[in-house]
Amino acid sequence: MADFLLRIEDVARLTGLEESLLRFYESEYPAELPEKIVQGGAFFFDPASVAAFTAIHARRQTGSGKPQKAPDHFARVIAVTSGKGGVGKTNLALNLAIELQRLGRMTVVLDADMGLANVHLLAGITPRYSLRDLLAGQVGMADIIEAGPEGIGIIAGGSGILAMADSGPQERCRIIEALMQLEKAADIILVDTGAGMGRGVRDFLLAADEILFVITPDITSLADAYGLLKALHQENLPPLPIHLVVNMVQNLKQAAEVSLRFTGCARDFLGREISDAGYVMRDTTVSQATARRMPYSVYRPEARVSKNSRAIAHTLLQKELPRAAAGSSFGRYLNLIREARQRLRLPAQERA
Ligand SMILES: Nc1ncnc2c1ncn2[C@@H]1O[C@H](COP(=O)(O)OP(=O)(O)OP(=O)(O)O)[C@@H](O)[C@H]1O
Ligand SMILES: [Mg+2]
Repeated sequence: MADFLLRIEDVARLTGLEESLLRFYESEYPAELPEKIVQGGAFFFDPASVAAFTAIHARRQTGSGKPQKAPDHFARVIAVTSGKGGVGKTNLALNLAIELQRLGRMTVVLDADMGLANVHLLAGITPRYSLRDLLAGQVGMADIIEAGPEGIGIIAGGSGILAMADSGPQERCRIIEALMQLEKAADIILVDTGAGMGRGVRDFLLAADEILFVITPDITSLADAYGLLKALHQENLPPLPIHLVVNMVQNLKQAAEVSLRFTGCARDFLGREISDAGYVMRDTTVSQATARRMPYSVYRPEARVSKNSRAIAHTLLQKELPRAAAGSSFGRYLNLIREARQRLRLPAQERA
């Protein structure tokens, strides 16, 4: 038995590491840490934990290293979407970003929700600027990336994005041009598209490298997601990777059944292969974390939902393509819009 016991605040002070990071290491490396000691109904750390946490942290710093963006490639842009609202996109995008960051990828969440831009609320930050300020020419891209939990970047939506939904191709080009700067600043950009199938949402989906559909076991969620996929398919969505996450499941069986139904429909009726990236259990930890204005992966890294999100992050990284060959996805889309505008203009010019 240890001579004296430590509370997590003591370990944080002695190691210089944040409590949330300690909890994360506890859940990731249980075998490398001394058992916790129960006294008076509470858990305490053995003093040997300080050296063990320090060793884990040092190894991670030198191994995968602190996330540092490789300078000469474009970010992997993953648009998180759903069709139906309220299925858990924002929570997943935010917590997935945290898990990806912990795995060594510099990750930014772009809040592109037209209706209720709320990534910053769930992350517990108060953004100073949004994309709207960038478009107004008042600030640069670096100013609008807010530092979020665990070092992720957050770009607040604001009404600049809202206006984009109804704007013409010229304004849409300006937004996409601005986002091209962002692609050089991050490894992964997760775009929280908001619900629905409007022009603004579809723009982000067509501009992305990959799409991640979030659905729930609710049949209307499945139908709406399929409807969106079908609309994109009819709009000649390129053959980009499409992933699926089933959220709010009661058990594994349900997750597998829902996933099979969606991937089966996509394959049989649209000829699209969808890869199953995992599931997240229905868990009150999500609302508890929201009430504290904390992402659940920070509030309770050892909770089931956090572990589920970590597993999804691992799966997505396994599917990482070599970025050297990849170009700018927003740039690619910009060219598409410009070409379309050119085509629209041509007949008028020919008539003149
Ligand atoms: N795994 C989960 N378990 C329990 N509740 C969840 C889970 N995921 C999300 N929720 C709850 O579902 C609600 C919607 O979550 P969230 O805001 O992330 O969804 P959304 O798809 O981004 O919604 P919107 O379409 O309005 O943007 C919230 O109340 C959230 O707490
Ligand atoms: Mg949302």
